[in-house]
Amino acid sequence: MGDITGFAAATYLRGLAFVQLPTTLLAMIDSAVGGKTGINHRAGKNLIGAFHQPALVVADLETLTTLPRREWNAGWHEAIKYGVIRDADLFARLEARLPLALNQPLPWDWLAAVVADCCRIKAAIVARDERETGERKVLNFGHTVGHALEAVTCYRRFRHGEAVGIGMVAASQIAVRLGKLAPDEAQRLEQLVRRVGRMPGTDGLTVADLLEALRHDKKVSEGQLRFILPSRIGSAEEYRGSVEDVLPAALADTLARFSRRQPGDRLLPEAEGGAES
Ligand SMILES: NC(=O)c1ccc[n+]([C@@H]2O[C@H](COP(=O)([O-])OP(=O)(O)OC[C@H]3O[C@@H](n4cnc5c(N)ncnc54)[C@H](O)[C@@H]3O)[C@@H](O)[C@H]2O)c1
Ligand SMILES: [Zn+2]
Repeated sequence: MGDITGFAAATYLRGLAFVQLPTTLLAMIDSAVGGKTGINHRAGKNLIGAFHQPALVVADLETLTTLPRREWNAGWHEAIKYGVIRDADLFARLEARLPLALNQPLPWDWLAAVVADCCRIKAAIVARDERETGERKVLNFGHTVGHALEAVTCYRRFRHGEAVGIGMVAASQIAVRLGKLAPDEAQRLEQLVRRVGRMPGTDGLTVADLLEALRHDKKVSEGQLRFILPSRIGSAEEYRGSVEDVLPAALADTLARFSRRQPGDRLLPEAEGGAES
């Protein structure tokens, strides 16, 4: 909603002042901040859009009281993203609280602090690199494979944040295989992604489908796929080398980890959004 409204404001009369009133956790901590607006198109996600900063962003936590569980979960994955790329303390706070969040209401002061911290991290990065020529790319952590997962399922199976959750695990698997990330850090990330809650499985998806979708992604630069890789929880940056040698195995591993057939999984059953149709 924020993306399309912002895009309308960016293009109508070559730009109107507008205010973002995010009502999802994801919009409060991510999409309402930073001025990226756009619409989806058959040719690809995020191809049509404009940078247009809102005059004001008002995140009223009261609106979240009606937010469905799955939309909350989608937002948590983006919060985890900020923890991994820039803030180990935020990651630890999410680790400490998220399992409880499934069964009891979150304290509002805790939630307000998390939302504010995520906004601060994003706003600081955007202030330094509004047009995504450098540092802002770090916000795409988990999004290379995430967008591929969304594309191969025609945007119907996963909520955006859910795809990012799996995409972050894929990126961490790549980083481990390149020797950039310790396996226990990757395991911490995967555990937290899983603890967020049930989401659709990766069943029926193949490495070949994902590779094909990745080649169409705008993050292919100079013929090379670009990934944001963590070096530890709290720090990530764009990896300048080639990931080609480790990519298929990391994708296969990730697809297997989020398959509904895994014993003890916490993925949604088919009827609750596990299938496309
Ligand atoms: N522009 C950016 O920088 C940026 C960053 C991240 C994500 N995005 C985009 O944002 C989109 C996802 O954002 P979103 O999750 O806010 O999407 P959304 O606006 O589609 O909302 C998700 C669902 O929640 C419902 N909803 C919203 N607020 C509610 C409330 N308070 N109570 C009950 N239901 C409510 C909506 O009706 C909708 O069904 C994706 O398309 C993603 O690509 C953009
Ligand atoms: Zn996102």
